[in-house]
Amino acid sequence: FEKYIPFVPLKRAHRAWPDKELKQAPIWCSVDLRDGNQALIDPMNIDEKLEYFHTLVDIGVKEIEVGFPSASEVEYEFCRTLIEGGHIPDDVTIQVLVQARPHLIEKTFEAIEGAKHVIFHFYNSTSTLQRKVVFHTDVAGVKKIAVDAAEMIYTMAQSAIAAGMDLRYEYSPESFMGTEMEAAAEICAAVLDALHADTGHRVILNLPTTVENCMPNYFADEIETFIELLPGRERAIISLHPHNDRGEGVATAELSLLAGAERVEATLFGNGERTGNVDMVTLALNLYTQGVDPELDFSHINRIRDVYERCTKMKIGPRQPYVGELVFTAFSGSHQDAINKGTQYMREQGSEYWEIPYLPIDPADVGREYEPIIRINSQSGKGGAAFVMQQSFGYDLPKAMHPEFGRIVQRETERMGTELQPQRIFELFRENY
Ligand code: KIV
Ligand code: ZN
Repeated sequence: FEKYIPFVPLKRAHRAWPDKELKQAPIWCSVDLRDGNQALIDPMNIDEKLEYFHTLVDIGVKEIEVGFPSASEVEYEFCRTLIEGGHIPDDVTIQVLVQARPHLIEKTFEAIEGAKHVIFHFYNSTSTLQRKVVFHTDVAGVKKIAVDAAEMIYTMAQSAIAAGMDLRYEYSPESFMGTEMEAAAEICAAVLDALHADTGHRVILNLPTTVENCMPNYFADEIETFIELLPGRERAIISLHPHNDRGEGVATAELSLLAGAERVEATLFGNGERTGNVDMVTLALNLYTQGVDPELDFSHINRIRDVYERCTKMKIGPRQPYVGELVFTAFSGSHQDAINKGTQYMREQGSEYWEIPYLPIDPADVGREYEPIIRINSQSGKGGAAFVMQQSFGYDLPKAMHPEFGRIVQRETERMGTELQPQRIFELFRENY
């Protein structure tokens, strides 16, 4: 471990978070079809990308990075298919990624011809490590790469805009997390100048972790410091692009939104390079359970999961927040009992709030069912079986019956050595009463 350089916290890293509240959803941008796709063992073909694109549209994502058209023929073809096939709704903006290199920029302009709304996203790496190890240059060197690209893009964009395209710009100082904040602000301000950014034409400054190697509060401090240092901050939309190397992508996004960012680039279920990008679903539903409308529709999460698994050929883990197979189950008797009591309480009180212990969200809100909330195995208590009878079959067993029926069910689970499905519990009820 001694070969790793520790991350040096900024001066405010000791401050307690949060000192603000998250009251509204960020602008969402999906990078599934680019960052997510480039990290797949078996990248999506055009049909899979199309299905995925339409799924994102149905969820309500309005900005979608559709690929890296100058990187490969498939990427280019997909962009053309979307545009020529009329697949892009009028209220959706496609985003295309390109390195800050002239011939790739030219190819990318060819790829977007005829599109109505486009975000032209270019990047180059700026961190101390990348400058030293990969590019052998200094801050002035990486700034020049960014500004030259910005000038070229601005010039080329004018004819597309004149032809009616709504074209916006996005710049990412890749490896922002490892860049000195003064340098990042200087480079980004020069890019804003080169792109003629103003409050009417805000440019997206996308600040990636690229590799997540510090604590979420440190990164949020970086965002806040960057915003303070950036000349003409109001000319920019501050965007996040957290990766998840330390497993803290969601926390990083949440704290950084509190620190002043307005937009998040994310993927469904956190697909993306290495440990993935920040998970849009968890982030959105965390907002949702805090009483903030995420403005994304996850009311049929199982359908989204099916598309995801089919197109990416990857499996979602059983404990993945909100969507995992097991996240609405309770195996322990005390949990089952509390859920049972919460359900009864809500019914009796006509409560307008979600007041069921152990279930952070109503499963119905994501299109999941009550029935699998409780599965009965040898660890279940007396309340569990009664709950299943009520939820699955509408039978309200009198309280006095719960212990005896619980024992019958428990004996059966011990005999079978497995959990019992609701149908078997019903049969036991019929057999014994
Ligand atoms: O993670 C990253 O830095 C990226 C950039 C290209 C935005 O994906
Ligand atoms: Zn990325």
